[in-house]
Amino acid sequence: MPGIKGPSDYSQEPPRHPCLQINSKEPFNAEPPRSALVSSYVTPVDLFYKRNHGPIPVVDDIERYCINITGLIETPKKLYMRDVRMLPKFNVTAILQCAGNRRTAMSKTRKVRGVGWDVSAIGNAVWGGAKLADVLELVGIPKLTSSTRSGGKHVEFVSIDKCKEENGGPYKASIPLSQATNPEADVLLAYEMNGEPLNRDHGYPLRVIVPGVIGARSVKWLDSINIIAEECQGFFMQKDYKMFPPSVDWDNIDWSTRRPQMDFPVQSVICSLEDVQSIKPGKITISGYAASGGGRGIERVDVSIDGGKTWIEASRFQKTGIPYILDHESSDKWAWVLFKITVDIPRSTQIVAKAVDSGANVQPENVQDIWNLRGILNTSWHRVEVRVGHSNM
Ligand code: MTE
Repeated sequence: MPGIKGPSDYSQEPPRHPCLQINSKEPFNAEPPRSALVSSYVTPVDLFYKRNHGPIPVVDDIERYCINITGLIETPKKLYMRDVRMLPKFNVTAILQCAGNRRTAMSKTRKVRGVGWDVSAIGNAVWGGAKLADVLELVGIPKLTSSTRSGGKHVEFVSIDKCKEENGGPYKASIPLSQATNPEADVLLAYEMNGEPLNRDHGYPLRVIVPGVIGARSVKWLDSINIIAEECQGFFMQKDYKMFPPSVDWDNIDWSTRRPQMDFPVQSVICSLEDVQSIKPGKITISGYAASGGGRGIERVDVSIDGGKTWIEASRFQKTGIPYILDHESSDKWAWVLFKITVDIPRSTQIVAKAVDSGANVQPENVQDIWNLRGILNTSWHRVEVRVGHSNM
């Protein structure tokens, strides 16, 4: 593809913030300290988790960079950045969460395969770009279409990076055409993150943002968009990011029995305390994030200071000074909801958080019950141990 290339080694990686915890150096996978997540509603770009499967692509000529829209459509089209920028621009505040968030904790009950993540493979950003529904209209696909005349039912996004899981081929994923052409689904071809051009780690010059869906479908460094009949057959759709029951292991797995994971369940995490934290006796403020997939809001966040025997409701908020009202126009539908509560902790105990979403879905109590061999979607109650000391703290 003119203007951009996917290197086959790691000699041209961008600089990164020194406080990121590196979970894998090549490809680069890193997350911020959990306390950074509750420092602001919108996560700063340099502290936003980075999830890569290959070396970061290099743009050498942005004027020549374009994407090809092809497949089961009448008029294939080349789209340059200036064409994308000419479409109406939307800013959508949305989280991205890697399906592997909290994988390290799942691995402690029984080993799973995949990059280990603590609780920060998630971030909330303001993505700026064109709606995919508007882009697809340029190739003759009207809004709210679920099938093209020639049988296209899925929209495949193909990148330019070189991934070993694809035998050196590009990362790819797809979403249903009905979602892609629904303006309300807010699927973007984004060129901005938090008001700045995307940086290289996050998909410069153009990436897909699919709100309410696991991060794996928000393809970075877009190279082409294909309208296809069946969902994408790439590794990351068919041989990864699927949720298997606890009885399935590497010797009896049949990948074809499960659908690619898209939506994700309700999640909440305490970010103001480490897994094991020493504190002085007295009042502490506990804060964290809660989020759910599919645009579902957060109905409640419950916090327990006795290991889950009794619960108190935390306050919820998004933007400073604006009360969070679920499903209200003042709330960001695709974003996370932060929570906060001040409690008195006189003695050592276990603090727990669990959230309830607008569908009344609740986080599962135990990680064992949702264990799966790829270690995805660990949304079990989040527990931290506090050790209360009386001297020299
Ligand atoms: N797109 C490409 N081209 N290559 C990738 O490795 N990783 C995916 C997705 N898009 C990936 C990609 C995964 S698994 C996640 S969770 C998100 O990007 C992470 O986006 P971020 O690095 O901007 O946080």
